[in-house]
Amino acid sequence: MRDAYLIGAGQSDFGAFPDESYRSLFRTAFEEMVESVPDGISRDDIDEAYIGMVSIGGRQIGLPGPAVTEHVGLDGIPCVRLENACAASGYSIRQAIQAVRSGMADVALAGGTEVMNDLGRDRARYWLGVSGEMEWERMAGTTFSGVFAQMASAHMNEYGTTREQLSHVAVKSHEHGAKNPHAHLGYECSLEDAESAPTIAAPLGLYHCCPMSDGAASVLIASEDVVDDYTDDPIRVAGAGASSGGIGLFERDSYTSIPATKQAAESAYEEAGMAPEDLDFAEVHDCFSIAEVIAYEDLGFCEPGEGGAFAESGETRLGGDLPVNTSGGLKSKGHPIGATGASQMVEVFEQLSGHAGDRQVEDATVGLAHNIGGSGGAATVHILEKEGSA
Ligand SMILES: CC(C)(COP(=O)(O)OP(=O)(O)OC[C@H]1O[C@@H](n2cnc3c(N)ncnc32)[C@H](O)[C@@H]1OP(=O)(O)O)[C@@H](O)C(=O)NCCC(=O)NCCS
Repeated sequence: MRDAYLIGAGQSDFGAFPDESYRSLFRTAFEEMVESVPDGISRDDIDEAYIGMVSIGGRQIGLPGPAVTEHVGLDGIPCVRLENACAASGYSIRQAIQAVRSGMADVALAGGTEVMNDLGRDRARYWLGVSGEMEWERMAGTTFSGVFAQMASAHMNEYGTTREQLSHVAVKSHEHGAKNPHAHLGYECSLEDAESAPTIAAPLGLYHCCPMSDGAASVLIASEDVVDDYTDDPIRVAGAGASSGGIGLFERDSYTSIPATKQAAESAYEEAGMAPEDLDFAEVHDCFSIAEVIAYEDLGFCEPGEGGAFAESGETRLGGDLPVNTSGGLKSKGHPIGATGASQMVEVFEQLSGHAGDRQVEDATVGLAHNIGGSGGAATVHILEKEGSA
């Protein structure tokens, strides 16, 4: 297999944009991505495209991929929409990497886009709900907040994790998101703000939940044969892992771990020949604060049960040993579900290119991105490395 490289990445602002279309948001992301390629790129160089989109609200549920690429002047190339709930564009990236590694494409685009705020709240929750386990969770009335609340309660019961530790995750996410000009909720929050906010699904409060966001993100993956045409500082895909299963919580052995994340991480670390200690930073899927705590454990950043204490320790803040979600994460940057996986890769690109501004991790050379769908029924883990830095 050939090596694959990340050569460009861009995203729109994330926020509530009920009057925008998924296509216009994607155009903004696409244009920022084209600008980001160090030595420039022409549309004609892009061989294939994979677009992540859940089609919340049912808009363009057939052919949304070509509808997006046509809008940015990429008609005439193979394009497909990928759907894997909130992991839709994590999987787009995986497909683009496969296309490039296999030799079918020299440059492949992977992106995602979603508009969620033009629906009433109940309809938006319906469309989110159908991305979870339908028969026994959604049809029984459970929302995603409810499912993650069950995971939080289980984690608290099993390990003694506290609600305040979850609030530390939120405070850190907002601290980072306040430095990200694209963030939906780009302001700081105090521990007191997080602790005193209204309950959404006990034990989770407002600041333990991601918002409903609109936005788009897009990245370019190039082969080792052409990467020198686009950059002198290549960022290599060192490891790509993915897995699926356990869509409903009741399918899992435990509520306090996500098997798909563990399996995807194992593959990615093995392929990269790396361990968690080799990472300089990580973007993890924090749709709810408990998801970030569980991700710390499943990705091997700490032992099972220690995620809450790890959050409280400050090691995951900028300046800590392993900064996590320097973008602000889903909590502060926002979570337009089809776009999230690609936007995590935007942060990885900016960090490894040294263009993350106030959020820059010093000497960042290896970064990880972790994206899950639903409550963890599908997961991707990608490890990227600035070449020549190992
Ligand atoms: C948390 C949630 C229930 C709040 O929804 P809501 O009560 O309808 O809130 P609104 O969007 O009307 O916003 C009300 C206020 O709260 C703020 N707000 C909304 N979500 C917020 C969040 N997660 N954190 C902090 N503030 C938030 C808004 O900015 C707004 O502030 P303002 O009054 O100062 O303008 C909703 O965002 C939600 O369901 N989030 C989870 C989405 C989800 O499940 N995604 C898939 C994950 S797998």
